[in-house]
Amino acid sequence: MSDPTRFKRFTVTSALPYANGPIHIGHLAGVYVPADIYVRFLRMNEADVIFIGGSDEHGVPITIKALHQGVTPQDIVDQYHTIIKKSFEEFGISFDIYSRTSNRVHHETASAFFRKLFDAGQFIEKVSQQYYDESTDHFLADRYIMGTCPHCGYDKAYGDQCEKCGTSLNATDLIQPRSMLSGNQPVLRDTRHWFLPLDQYEPWLREWILEGHKDDWKSNVYGQCKSWIDQGLQPRAVTRDLDWGVKVPVEGAEGKVLYVWFDAPIGYISATRELTPDWEKYWKDPETKLVHFIGKDNIVFHCIIFPSMLRAEGSYILPDNVPANEFLNLEGEKISTSRNWAVWLHEYLADFPGKQDVLRYVLTSAAPETKDNDFTWKDFQARNNSELVAILGNFINRTVVLTHKYFQGRVPEAGEFNHSDHAALEEMGRFPEKIANSLNNYRFREGLAEMMNLARLGNKYLTDNEPWKQFATNPERVGTVLNLSLQICAQLSIVGEPFLPFSMDKVRQILNFPRSTWKDAALLNWLQPGHQLNPPELLFEKIEDSAIDYQVNKLLATKAANEAAQQKKPVKPGKTAVQYEDFSKMDIRAGVILEAEKVPKTDKLLKLKIDTGLDQRTVVSGIAGFFNPAEIIGRRVCILVNLEPRKLKGIESQGMILMAENPDGSLCFVTPDKEAVNGADIK
Ligand code: MF3
Ligand code: ZN
Repeated sequence: MSDPTRFKRFTVTSALPYANGPIHIGHLAGVYVPADIYVRFLRMNEADVIFIGGSDEHGVPITIKALHQGVTPQDIVDQYHTIIKKSFEEFGISFDIYSRTSNRVHHETASAFFRKLFDAGQFIEKVSQQYYDESTDHFLADRYIMGTCPHCGYDKAYGDQCEKCGTSLNATDLIQPRSMLSGNQPVLRDTRHWFLPLDQYEPWLREWILEGHKDDWKSNVYGQCKSWIDQGLQPRAVTRDLDWGVKVPVEGAEGKVLYVWFDAPIGYISATRELTPDWEKYWKDPETKLVHFIGKDNIVFHCIIFPSMLRAEGSYILPDNVPANEFLNLEGEKISTSRNWAVWLHEYLADFPGKQDVLRYVLTSAAPETKDNDFTWKDFQARNNSELVAILGNFINRTVVLTHKYFQGRVPEAGEFNHSDHAALEEMGRFPEKIANSLNNYRFREGLAEMMNLARLGNKYLTDNEPWKQFATNPERVGTVLNLSLQICAQLSIVGEPFLPFSMDKVRQILNFPRSTWKDAALLNWLQPGHQLNPPELLFEKIEDSAIDYQVNKLLATKAANEAAQQKKPVKPGKTAVQYEDFSKMDIRAGVILEAEKVPKTDKLLKLKIDTGLDQRTVVSGIAGFFNPAEIIGRRVCILVNLEPRKLKGIESQGMILMAENPDGSLCFVTPDKEAVNGADIK
């Protein structure tokens, strides 16, 4: 177990979310809420701590999204960076800086980092074969290529990973690879890249992680590291043939950028440089404790690759801990940005204004700390109504209301303590250390549960002593009971602060009590007799069924939309590029159908007479399955008039009319605008 007193300061990072979608509850439960609790706790201990966040703005998912929307990657990241940053702020994630990796400081920092490793000969340079799309002249890095997974047969596996079975892949493993840009089959071409020789770091990684962190890293994190290391580490390419990212700062590397997983973690360092000129002590002083909060899909990058980069560089400290969480599911299904199966933070904030702490509470109680966990709206409602409202809110409210009722809102004098008072005080005294111990060891659920146990203690103390029954006969005893209950409220406002900062602000306001340090949590007599309280205010309110039904219905609608999209057949992939000269050889005219009749003894063919503006001619067309001859007479069409004539069922067809074919195979006419006269040239 690492000794917390060994450290002078703390650098706490939270995974930089990709700026290609908003933040959802999975991100929050896995990374940002625990990180924020930890940092608030450290700050209350008067530690020197920085909390780093920012958007990860490179990588193929972003450029693909830009391509689909017909905008630039910068447009995409500008849009989502703004949404993400704002929603974190509103939610109270207390970053010291929330930066982004498309900014100049980051490009300079990442570039210099690469260059230093390059100059020190830390990379292997290798020419290998990569898929290339000849029709668009692009190398197809990572997710620009799709194909069938060789492990599970899923036909939409990406060049770097199959999302169905989770296997990480090389593009060349894919069966029937196709380009995301054109749908075409790619070819293999030689390309030069730089690799970090992870295999050379294996002995060191074994010692540092497998021996050095056996006891203090979470078992899910340790286990994943062990399995990666035991499988044997391979050199890993840290550059890509792409034009969005940090340019490779080496001569002859035009058209190449740093791999997103090389530049993004350096983003933590860039953000620190942006935050303070005194940044180096947060990254280079061995008395700084570096902690990375991440989700489980980031473990290999933060425990193996980034530390190897830091070690290769030579002047940096390594993470002391990487308390990665497992995944949070939503109503029994995996959260998915692309399938819109998520509770989005910005939507939550709009639907539940002022209820940041409710979500913080629920996500901490159900945090996937040791295994995947499930978020359900019913559970959200139950935890709010029967825990926050009924236990925590109720205790503080009863205490403050009774103090106003019997003592005009002034803290009463405490008389002689009896046995139950002493027992309560003794129990209270144990909470600060218990909770601190949980938080120091990244057990946030446990810490929160203890905090609630303090509120339970308060409720039980009040209920056992029934001050409301004794005021007429024994006002002095009531004073003692309320004095002690108010001390519990004050203690709650301190130890509850890291978990529920908005509500504890309110409690301090009601108690008229200043912000305290964690050390103060052990005092036990915070509020002096005669101290004036403010009027009570409800801390939490009941969440009604209607609000929950609304959310559940929103998810049902998403499910229905996804099912409909599943049934829709995909459109055909695009075709190879053609020259304009080739296209202009087609003589296509606007025309009109004059006559139509079925070709005898066939199901599919209609014989049409068409006015092409040039002439009237016969065309045989395979559309009988979709149209009734009588109904199409008079329809305007586009007709290819210089198609070589050919005989069909003995009739010479002198051209072809243009039809649109839907994914289900049904056909529709392509009709010129009414202003186009017969014979108008279509080009
Ligand atoms: N964008 C990555 C993800 O969402 C996380 C990057 S963390 C960093 O999975 F260290 F690379 F920044
Ligand atoms: Zn698979």
